[in-house]
Amino acid sequence: MISSLLVFLAILSAASLSDAGAGVPHQIHHLRPRSGSGGQRILGVSCLSWRLGVETNNIRDWKLVPEVCEGYVGNYMLGHQYRKDCNAVAYAAVQYAKSIKPAGDGKDIWVFDIDETSLSNLPYFARSDVAFGAKAYNATAINEWVMEGKAPAVPGVILLYKQLVKLGYKVVFLTGRTENQRQITTQNLNNVGYHSWENLILKQTSESGKTAVAYKSGRRKELEESGYRIVGNVGDQWSDLLGSHSGNRTFKVPDPLYYIS
Ligand SMILES: *[C@@H]1O[C@H](CO)[C@@H](O)[C@H](O)[C@H]1NC(C)=O
Ligand SMILES: *[C@@H]1O[C@H](CO)[C@@H](O)[C@H](O)[C@H]1NC(C)=O
Ligand SMILES: [Mg+2]
Repeated sequence: MISSLLVFLAILSAASLSDAGAGVPHQIHHLRPRSGSGGQRILGVSCLSWRLGVETNNIRDWKLVPEVCEGYVGNYMLGHQYRKDCNAVAYAAVQYAKSIKPAGDGKDIWVFDIDETSLSNLPYFARSDVAFGAKAYNATAINEWVMEGKAPAVPGVILLYKQLVKLGYKVVFLTGRTENQRQITTQNLNNVGYHSWENLILKQTSESGKTAVAYKSGRRKELEESGYRIVGNVGDQWSDLLGSHSGNRTFKVPDPLYYIS
């Protein structure tokens, strides 16, 4: 058990470091946890506690990384810990996927979110003019980056995807990206190794007023109504995993960059 974990993680980290390194013009950083002192108004405690609060959904509806934690989040995202944390999620998901058998009728699916789950926008957030700071939260600039189609795969998740395909599951991508981004998204997914999927569901103009939870729950309901069984659901946002029809198991990958309600 331990040795298979180590082998799996060794394979994951070798492959995923190169995946996620592509396009990120930075060295891998060691994580230096930083205590928030002056300026820390969110919790009055450490940035590590802030990040844990974010991952557990105890801290909700936040808009920006606290200024005092920008350096901490940058180091986390560009460092080994983010990759290890993603690999641990992937490992748990693969163990679960192996513990059940797809029925063989092509109806057992895994739902994958795209941004910060399948594709990483880290090269954008790490850019020197953005640097994990308030300037990153510019919808026009983010959209321009997305339309370049250069996002690398999220570490670990690409390998989870490949394992699932090998095990006989179908993958459905369900994203808040909009229909007009279908072509670039398809191209980007293909370029980094996601080569097949049952469906790529993008947000339609008619759904633009819906919250992420309502939109995603509605689409998952439709999938189940058309006979699919959602055995797994992978996302970086709680809004990917909460709501209805969320699947037999959910898996959350880390994302201390932004919060979508
Ligand atoms: C947002 O990004 C756009 C496109 O890169 C840029 O032209 C604009 O100045 C930015 N806005 C702010 C407030 O920084
Ligand atoms: C998934 O959940 C449904 C509904 O609760 C249940 O009937 C089914 O057995 C579960 N499947 C697995 C693989 O656990
Ligand atoms: Mg996402």
